[in-house]
Amino acid sequence: MKYDVLIVGGGLTGMRAALAAKKNNVSVVILSMVYPIRSHSVAAQGGINAALGNKDVTEKDSWEKHAFDTVKGSDFLADQKAVEVLTKQAIPAIYELESWGVPFSRLENGRIAQRPFGGAAFPRTCYAEDRTGHNLLHTLYQQCIRNDIDFLNEWLLLDIVLKDKKLQGAVVLNMQSGNLETIAAKSIILATGGAGKVYGKSTNALINTGSGMAIAYNAGIPLKDMEFIQFHPTTLYGTNILITEGCRGEGAYLLNNKNERFMKDYAPKNMELAPRDIVARAIMTEIYNGRGFDDAYVYLDMRHLGEEKIDERLPSMREIGLKFANVDIVKDPLPVQPGQHYTMGGIDCNEKCETEISGIYAAGEGSCVSVHGANRLGGNSLLETVVFGKIAGENASEYVKDLSFSDSELENAKQKISKKIDEMFKRKGSHPVGYYKEKLYKIMSDNVGVYRNKKDLAFAVNELEKLKEEAKDLYMTSKSKIFNIELMSALDLEGMITLGQIITKGALLREESRGSHARTDFKTRDDEKFLHHTLAYKGDKGPLFSKKDVDISIWEPQERRY
Ligand code: FUM
Repeated sequence: MKYDVLIVGGGLTGMRAALAAKKNNVSVVILSMVYPIRSHSVAAQGGINAALGNKDVTEKDSWEKHAFDTVKGSDFLADQKAVEVLTKQAIPAIYELESWGVPFSRLENGRIAQRPFGGAAFPRTCYAEDRTGHNLLHTLYQQCIRNDIDFLNEWLLLDIVLKDKKLQGAVVLNMQSGNLETIAAKSIILATGGAGKVYGKSTNALINTGSGMAIAYNAGIPLKDMEFIQFHPTTLYGTNILITEGCRGEGAYLLNNKNERFMKDYAPKNMELAPRDIVARAIMTEIYNGRGFDDAYVYLDMRHLGEEKIDERLPSMREIGLKFANVDIVKDPLPVQPGQHYTMGGIDCNEKCETEISGIYAAGEGSCVSVHGANRLGGNSLLETVVFGKIAGENASEYVKDLSFSDSELENAKQKISKKIDEMFKRKGSHPVGYYKEKLYKIMSDNVGVYRNKKDLAFAVNELEKLKEEAKDLYMTSKSKIFNIELMSALDLEGMITLGQIITKGALLREESRGSHARTDFKTRDDEKFLHHTLAYKGDKGPLFSKKDVDISIWEPQERRY
């Protein structure tokens, strides 16, 4: 197989990139580990931000105000010109999605409905009930079909092949046949999503292993700001299914065991609609101080919204409450706790989605431009997928125009991986892959969570080092090569542990508190020492860390108050 542009990832970013690349008359394929409409974008609930101003009353929203809110929300670690690109392009992006058929919820006057979200000065989150990602993903899939985009569904990227730092293509696994294949490519767009499943308590799907990040890192591209992990304040106690911020946008209260709206003590102005890092910390503080329930959760109360509003705007939340917690949110509050939700860091790239290796582009959650800095605002991730997906597709398709294919190393690379898989199947080993993944989940959730400190982080670094060694001894219980999910999981494991190490070591090095990274031993933000991005490069003995400047050319960093 030969393609001008190989897009890895069939979520919103990948599909938006494909549509942009195809417009440039180049050959394009999307390689997706699941059927595209099962990509994790489908799970996004609450909405997508753009300063449309549809609900403005006295003052007018603008993309500049959206940009400022995003930068402030990021605790001044986002690159400000990149944020301008995101927020300026948001408005045409929403109208484009509307014209393609996204069934947005509507105001009485027929305009796209917008709800308030955390850290935003205006109600600027456009939504389709509480199934925004689902509706966007299905619409983009329809557009891809309409535009004859090629898909390789249930195929897995295993390696990027370079010769003398020049891109040749990729080694991939056809999961249905179990065959390894090669794809010669002039450019690759990594739209591979986040690494949430490095944690146990996460809203993320099992496919969110960060495999694209690990493959890019192994190819020599640095990962940026990986220590910044978003913990969504409201995930369902017990399963950590996402309970959308849209609930609080529609007016839900957070209550402690004294029946108090405790956010008054943490963010008196914004209350439940403070940015996620602040709300997540507030919940954990209530729980640690004995004001939670069963030392594990608080309540999200929506009873006062009434059945009609709940059924109209939050129907999936009612269904999730009933099916997974036996709670009807119309009649009772829902038990919630913070859970891992988003990877602010990712593959280092610039506003054009270019990485350090020519021809390799990155976009979406798996990338780090950076538009989210130390803390992403809700509703900005769906936005990032379509804005930077388009930019990646345009630039990658432009880049390939005068290039020819070169594929001399592809077969060698395939043989190497084939040997590794054969050895894996033959190994007697100690434990199957699930054993090691459970250990990883626990190390990360227990020690690298909402609050961090030197002792726990150092402990986790040590445990991850041991786990990496131990995991070399995994064995396969299923020896079939045909659609072997266990094989897929085993192939991911080493990369996941590596990502865990990068997150943890980065968190240990960052001796300050900024956005989602809250150190109990370094409680304040330290702009003098730490107003920089963290880069992690692959070294012989583990990640090598360096710094990169943050673009603060528009707004001076200031204290965040909500
Ligand atoms: O709460 C939510 O609906 C999640 C939105 C987001 O992560 O942007």
